Amino acid sequence: MHRILTFVLALALLILPILATPSRLRLPGSALRLARKHGGGETGDDDDGPGGDNDNDDDSNADGNIPDLGDSAGIPDVANATNAACVPFYPVRDAILGGVFGGRCTDLARASVRLAFHDAGTFSLRLAALGKPNGAADGSLLWDPQEVLRDENNGLQDIVAALAPLPQRFNVSPGDVLQLAGVLGVLACPGGPRIDAWVGRPLPANKAPNGLLPSPNDSVDSLLGRFADMGFAPVDLIALIGAHGTARQRFVDPAMAGEAMDTTIDLWDVNFYRDTNVATAPHNVFRLASDVNLAHNASTKAFFHEYIDNQPDWDQDYRAAHLLMSTLGYKTTELVNCTELMPASINLTRVSMPDTVSGKAVVDPGLLEAAIQKYRAPWLKP
Ligand SMILES: *[C@@H]1O[C@H](CO)[C@@H](O)[C@H](O)[C@H]1NC(C)=O
Ligand SMILES: *[C@@H]1O[C@H](CO)[C@@H](O)[C@H](O)[C@H]1NC(C)=O
Ligand SMILES: *[C@@H]1O[C@H](CO)[C@@H](O)[C@H](O)[C@H]1NC(C)=O
Ligand SMILES: *[C@@H]1O[C@H](CO)[C@@H](O)[C@H](O)[C@H]1NC(C)=O
Ligand SMILES: *[C@@H]1O[C@H](CO)[C@@H](O)[C@H](O)[C@H]1NC(C)=O
Repeated sequence: MHRILTFVLALALLILPILATPSRLRLPGSALRLARKHGGGETGDDDDGPGGDNDNDDDSNADGNIPDLGDSAGIPDVANATNAACVPFYPVRDAILGGVFGGRCTDLARASVRLAFHDAGTFSLRLAALGKPNGAADGSLLWDPQEVLRDENNGLQDIVAALAPLPQRFNVSPGDVLQLAGVLGVLACPGGPRIDAWVGRPLPANKAPNGLLPSPNDSVDSLLGRFADMGFAPVDLIALIGAHGTARQRFVDPAMAGEAMDTTIDLWDVNFYRDTNVATAPHNVFRLASDVNLAHNASTKAFFHEYIDNQPDWDQDYRAAHLLMSTLGYKTTELVNCTELMPASINLTRVSMPDTVSGKAVVDPGLLEAAIQKYRAPWLKP
């Protein structure tokens, strides 16, 4: 049922912007989503990853991005680059994954995912149609020294300081650095999927306009409205907020600063959806009012509930939504696909063991650490 709804909403989104802004539009995500949800296969999912030996390219499995643990370390080497335009970005990848994240799901890795959203989340189709200064996934947070000082960007100071020197150091744009850090931040957290990485963003045209970033106090309607104005369907909104599952809150309620937003903060998993949906917040879990509303509201709960205990569906939808987010404001024809430099994802299923009491599969810390040692070796801090 809700897939039909998705289809209708995606179709509406597809048509609306064509009418509104014929020249600027690159059919935000919706075309991609239609293909994905309805077998058009544009995204290919031919994503076994380096060393991946997975011949199963059936989209219905939706999980082709994870190579076999045991195949190879899944780390693409610049010597094997196939696209010359991507060559400068291999060292940027290493500077971020190694120098900034230390190869792990650290606070800076988590912050880079939030940063990617705060950078892109000021994009507006409405402003674009009016030809007014607009946001975009343009790296303006690294380029304009004032943006990080806005209240809504509190907590992003450290990641901005860590990434800010990289554009000059590698002679690439701030948007490329910032959005590459976003997809690498997802990958640095075990379970995080390999999202397609695109580069070639020009310098920001202006600072991000004020007042466009969604707030945790927003109603469901205003969140849906604001996300639609960015070019997102409701399914994208619900998939994107799953990133809260690796987040800590600090400023929403300073009295509870540091509290995680699900029970497994170090894993890129779907526990956020269960923990947000249950009547009472689990011990030491902080829930945003907006997330709880999205879990229960009639307009969004079907999307929300689909991801409870369903990592493969979330994976697929999150990858599509984050990809769209990371290119907001640009046409993909203006950018270059450098997914070839992305390391392999760590598959949580393959590092899990049945719990002796419940029988449910749970991540085994020893297996997980072994996977990190193997798949993230070049970037780990001693
Ligand atoms: C981008 O590259 C990746 C990996 O090479 C590929 O799976 C994906 O389909 C490409 N995206 C597009 C839109 O061509
Ligand atoms: C993870 O590995 C399991 C077991 O090998 C497999 O069934 C599943 O499809 C994989 N998940 C992803 C997202 O690739
Ligand atoms: C790169 O290519 C060389 C030879 O062309 C090959 O031996 C090596 O395994 C490749 N490395 C990766 C990480 O794909
Ligand atoms: C949300 O609402 C609370 C209480 O009404 C207020 O203290 C807080 O500043 C608001 N937060 C934002 C980001 O607007
Ligand atoms: C859903 O959200 C809308 C506004 O955002 C609100 O009017 C409505 O009461 C909400 N419904 C539920 C069941 O929370």
